[in-house]
Parts: sequence; structure tokens; C-alpha cells
Amino acid sequence: GKSGYDHYMLKEINEQPHALRECLRGRPRELEGSIEIDELEGLERPAHVHFVACGTSYHAALYGARLFREQGIRTNTFLASEYDVDSIPVDETTLVVGVTQSGETADTLRALRAANRIGAETLSVTNVVGCSAARETDYVMYIRAGPEIGVAATKTFASQQVALAMLSRALTGASSSGFIEALRALPDQVQSILDTSHAAAVADEYVDADAYFFIGRGYNAPVALEGALKMKEITYKHAEGFPAGELKHGPLALVTDRTPVFAMLPGDSTAEKMLGNVREVESRGAPIVAVTDVPAQLGSHADHVLEIPDTHELFAPILSNIQLQLVSYWVANRLERSIDKPRNLAKSVTVE
Ligand code: M6R
Repeated sequence: GKSGYDHYMLKEINEQPHALRECLRGRPRELEGSIEIDELEGLERPAHVHFVACGTSYHAALYGARLFREQGIRTNTFLASEYDVDSIPVDETTLVVGVTQSGETADTLRALRAANRIGAETLSVTNVVGCSAARETDYVMYIRAGPEIGVAATKTFASQQVALAMLSRALTGASSSGFIEALRALPDQVQSILDTSHAAAVADEYVDADAYFFIGRGYNAPVALEGALKMKEITYKHAEGFPAGELKHGPLALVTDRTPVFAMLPGDSTAEKMLGNVREVESRGAPIVAVTDVPAQLGSHADHVLEIPDTHELFAPILSNIQLQLVSYWVANRLERSIDKPRNLAKSVTVE
């Protein structure tokens, strides 16, 4: 059941601290300063990784791929429906990683099967033990988020992000103690967001907006895409997310005082350029909601602040996304949408 929550989505948002603890269980090894994923024994550092995924899982893959690149591994990330092995160089030296919560998404399965045929090594990162993806790939890593009933992917996205962060280090053998420590802090930090978030108040203020924009840079760009996907999926309202640098290449034309902009503003190397983007939308009258771990520094540039705890630069997107999930949930709730089963959508998409 829903354990007293009005919707599975809210229940699953609130289950994230537990889901992340499960995902982490036994994997970071503090003593050795390494991350071990038992089920991947034998899998070695790949020369080249292709990620294939759809929807929210694609956003997790975009985030994960960046962590691999940071370790010097060449990556490409594909929407599974666009993965065409006849026109994309892929061979036995490529590890093809299917990121799929359900392990039953037709587009992702097709891409993995094509990779198998070419002779590439294949790995699925999934939530469902014994799913089709797990059965059809050489290796499988479980994200251990527990069953997700709501059509909107929430806890599985957080667990995919954490799983891929661990995978990037497990395959390269390089984990600084700061990385492991920050990983282990995430479940409690997510809990503190859930306990203190003002997302419902922000949702109330902007429930009548014409559209919602989400911007971020670098590691935070995929979360901007995810924030927008969640918003449109459950509220049926127009939302767009993009890497912030793209604003002035088109989307800025849509920005008005009726289009709140959610800006991922962690106090990292992206902050200065992000502030430039915030000024661009502000001067068009757009309300700004800053998602930040340094509210004292950056909060003054915004109409509202959604605060996240201080974390390793690489993990801010995991925490920021929790706030965005809550905003979408509360907008949809105020609009009395069918949150757990949005119109036209299915939990797993088993046709191409
Ligand atoms: O089961 P999968 O992870 O392969 O599903 C992929 C997408 O269909 C899924 O993430 C979809 O985008 C979500 N409903 C979004 O919340």
C-alpha cells in the first residue's frame, strides 16, 4: 500500500534515503579505499563505453557518462531508440551499458541485443532481479531501489545516479576518500532535504505559470532535463530543461514573467557562468528559483531558494533533483492530476 501517503510517488520520494542505503550497501570499502561491485567480478576497465537508455534513465546515463569521462574513459550516450549499430562504431572493445529501471523497455532491449550481436561486452544497470535486460547482458548491476509503482521514476533515478557513480570508480580503481565519504553521507542528506524542503510553497506560488524552465551546467545539466521531464509527465504543463549555455541560442525567446526558471546553482566551478544565465532570464522578468548548497552566497540572486546540503561537487545533482521531484509533485497535487498514472503513459514501455 501507500503507507499513509496520498500517492505512491510521494511515498517513493520519501523512500530515497532507504533506497540509497541499499544501493550503497557493501560496495564502498573504506579500509581499502575502493568501491567493489560483487556481481561485476571479472569486468575490467573498458576502453570505450556506450550508454543506451530512455527517458529518466537516459538522464541518469548522461550524468554517469560524465563521471566515466572524468576517469579518462571515452563515452557516448544514446537514446536507446536512436542506437543504430550500422551507423555507430561499436566493436568488441566497447562496453555497452543499458540503464533501465524495469529492464523491460523495448528500445533499450533492442539496443542491447544489437550490441550483443556485434560482439560488444554488455552490462545492464537495473532494478528488477531477473528482468529481460539482466538475462540478456553479459553483466548486471542491481540498483536495489525496491519496487517502484508510480509511473514517474523517482527513487530509481537517485539510485541509478549513485550506482553509476560507484560503477565509474569500481571500473577504474580510483576512489578518493572524499568521494567515498561523500557517497556515504548522501542518504542522510536526502533525508534532511525531505524534512526541511520548501518545495510545496514554491509549487503553490507558481502553480499557474505558463511554463517551467530548468537550467544547469556540467554535472547539473542532466538534472535540468530530468526536472522538466518530471514536471511535464505529472502536471501536463509545458516544461523545458537544457544546459544553461543554450538559453541564448533560442529558448530565451520564451522566457517571460510567467515562466519560472529553476536554476541549479551549486557553489562550484559552474557558479559564475550560471549567475550570468540567471541575470539573462531575470532581466526578462522571470521568477528565479535557485537550488543551491550555498544559499548565503547565491540565494540573493533568486526569488526563492531550495537548499541542498553541502556535498562533493559531483553529487550536488543527486541532491538537487530531490527538490525538483518535490516541486513537480506539489504542482501536480495542486492541479489534482492523476499523479501515479499520468494520462497516456505506462510504467514500462514494451513497444518500440
Ligand atoms: O524502465 P526504464 O528505466 O527503461 O524506463 C525508461 C523510461 O520509460 C522511464 O524512465 C520514463 O521516462 C519515466 N516514466 C519517467 O519518469
